[in-house]
Amino acid sequence: MTKTGFSAGIWRRRDVLGLIGAAALGPVRPGMAATPRRLTARRATARLAPQDMPVTAVWGYDGTVPGPALRVPQGGRVTLDFVNELDQPSTVHWHGIRIDNAMDGVPGLTQAPVAPGETFRYDFTVPDAGTYWYHPHNRTSEQLAHGLYGALIVEEPEAPEADRDLPMLLDDWRLTDGAQIDTASLGSFHDRAHAGRIGHWITVNGDGEAVEPVRRHERLRLRLCNTANARIFELGLKGLTGWTIALDGQPVPPEPIQRLTLGPAQRADLIVDVTAAEGEEAALAVIERDSAFAAVLFPISGQVRNEPLPVPTPLAANPVQLPADMADAARQILVMEGGAMGRMMGAKLEGQSLGPRDLAQRGMAWAMNGVAGMPDAPLVDVTRGRAVHLAIHNDTAWPHAMHIHGHHFQRVNKGQAHGPLRDTVLMQRGETAEVAFVADNPGDWLVHCHMAEHADSGMMTWFRVR
Ligand code: C2O
Ligand code: CU
Repeated sequence: MTKTGFSAGIWRRRDVLGLIGAAALGPVRPGMAATPRRLTARRATARLAPQDMPVTAVWGYDGTVPGPALRVPQGGRVTLDFVNELDQPSTVHWHGIRIDNAMDGVPGLTQAPVAPGETFRYDFTVPDAGTYWYHPHNRTSEQLAHGLYGALIVEEPEAPEADRDLPMLLDDWRLTDGAQIDTASLGSFHDRAHAGRIGHWITVNGDGEAVEPVRRHERLRLRLCNTANARIFELGLKGLTGWTIALDGQPVPPEPIQRLTLGPAQRADLIVDVTAAEGEEAALAVIERDSAFAAVLFPISGQVRNEPLPVPTPLAANPVQLPADMADAARQILVMEGGAMGRMMGAKLEGQSLGPRDLAQRGMAWAMNGVAGMPDAPLVDVTRGRAVHLAIHNDTAWPHAMHIHGHHFQRVNKGQAHGPLRDTVLMQRGETAEVAFVADNPGDWLVHCHMAEHADSGMMTWFRVR
């Protein structure tokens, strides 16, 4: 009797400890009440640059870059008080989460911007396991460039076998000689009309010289996320054998990695085995033209097991409805135009037809379907449950990372939707991407280029699900 009571006591104690760990994110199960976590956007400093340089003044969630990694079980609920201690309005967008529209964090569309000194409660459930992230959606280019972003990790009920689970948020910074954020060039029209704000100092988790000690045959789950304003990362592995197991949070059949391209906002979950021997080099490398450098160095010492683990098995699919009935889909064309070396003759801005020079004077460089900035009318207006089939034409001289809020889409080929579910598609110049998804989430949803400077200067539209 005593023994049973004792062990019951231990169980209770363990449960409580488990809850304390999860309390970082509020309730563990839907409907359970818990004290909401706070997430504060504020000024801070971060050591982005090497030791012999000054620390950098940044804006960070809870004062860190990246902000805290939020972890929540699949199907769980996030209850969180966002406190804005910046001196400008902000919001938080939960990128890639198929979320309640009122919690999507888009000022002017789903909520009012949160004024300095104010608090807004975000409260939503997370239907899909995977790697997501959060960032501001007000003055996005400026706030993202200052370091406001963090990982939102939704854990599978059964995680794939890995010795460690490491979120890795990749960013680039445009710093002055004194290692401060180059604010003079924020919002520059040159950046807007070209590739966006590209930095020259690359960090992983806010560290320009990231080092992660490992052991031979250790298996890591790397959750890569491109949080840069506009940079497209080309990545490779050295001394590591890896597989992609998810893209933009959604599982894909494990695919051996040669090279990996991550456009702004895109994520890739990797399973990576340390196959190099002690003393050899292992790295996550950034590839630039003909050269490559380590974004993360993995020094190897000792070993975890004698043999590498077997090839990873696929993750369980998330409960995303696939667009099966394409015949009945609402079809729409989305033409992107403008930018340097483009052919845009003009566009509508707030109902007025303007030529390229007048648009430029108002900071606009791009248009979608002839409109620069948010149009009054939605791109499509559908009833819930209907498939949407978009043909997106990149009629510009630049790549773009097109992001659809609240839904994951597939590519369409010969009229059929297939392949990975994504929330952001990287499109090369001149490329057409046909995408389809089931509009199963009521509300008003944004569609925009995730190169923040492009979105700010015209590449933004929206659709409505009733
Ligand atoms: Cu991460 Cu509207 O986007
Ligand atoms: Cu773009």
